[in-house]
Amino acid sequence: MPTPIILDCDPGHDDVFAIWLAAAHPAIDLRAITAVAGNGHIADTTRNALVACTVAGITDVPVARGAERPLVQELSIADWIHGANALGGPELPEPEIALDDREALALMRDVVAGSTQPVTIVATGPLTNVALFVGRHPDLLPRIARVIWMGGSTGRGNVAAYAEFNAWTDPEAIQIVLDSGVPFTMVGLNIAHQALITADVRSRVAAAGTRMGAFGAALLEYFCAAYEKAEGMAEGPLHDPITVAMIADPAVATIVRTRLDIELTGTETRGATCVDLLGVLGRQANAEVALDLDVDRFWNLIEGAVRALD
Ligand code: RIB
Ligand code: CA
Repeated sequence: MPTPIILDCDPGHDDVFAIWLAAAHPAIDLRAITAVAGNGHIADTTRNALVACTVAGITDVPVARGAERPLVQELSIADWIHGANALGGPELPEPEIALDDREALALMRDVVAGSTQPVTIVATGPLTNVALFVGRHPDLLPRIARVIWMGGSTGRGNVAAYAEFNAWTDPEAIQIVLDSGVPFTMVGLNIAHQALITADVRSRVAAAGTRMGAFGAALLEYFCAAYEKAEGMAEGPLHDPITVAMIADPAVATIVRTRLDIELTGTETRGATCVDLLGVLGRQANAEVALDLDVDRFWNLIEGAVRALD
């Protein structure tokens, strides 16, 4: 039985591959895509979700617009990585998919309330939409199987010394989701930086020989150039699709159950995901954290998705 999921995202180059893998893999039933502000402004991330569907020929998944800013701090987009429109590189086609009439929270509500199976929420951007949803619909929490989120890190950050971008953008949202008690899995930079986009990966995507393969290769080229300039990493990390891969093929990553706390007030550490891997604090475990990636298995899933769609 395929796993029903909602994919909440801020496309974003790596978010696009998460959308494609979620739509392509037979073990996943992609029920909805919701956009959130993060990598870009909400108008851009929403359009980019529609573009990702258009390029891949995904026509049967509702796409809805979500939160335009984090719960507390001002939005600061990741344009130095993703570009001003949040999907720099290839020319973006006009979306051939219409935006759903519902806002993101209404679409999430309808999908969760209407599902005969508990729904997994996959989040690859700031957790703003997810936090608003769990706050507005506490009665639906038992119908959420888990939240699996790309964000945070067991180590250093990427937008601040100890804060990863999705966590840094809306740390209050993480606290709300953790406090809700919904089963929570963190897929942080520690594992994401094992998913490095090598020249071989780029050529495998391009070799699909389709519109989607060419679009995907152009995204990877732009993304890697941005990482080279920003972090001296010519092989950028394709963070987001690891969340989807872990649902499609759980053997792709190892996980540990541990204690996760989020720093909300630190002068230099706001947004840090504090993962007590050694258990030294003696606090109750409240999350799963992904640790090691089966890199070949992961890239086979990505290549398979690019070849399966379009
Ligand atoms: O820090 C990496 C995360 O921030 C990824 O989800 C990327 O798309 C950006 O949203
Ligand atoms: Ca993202």
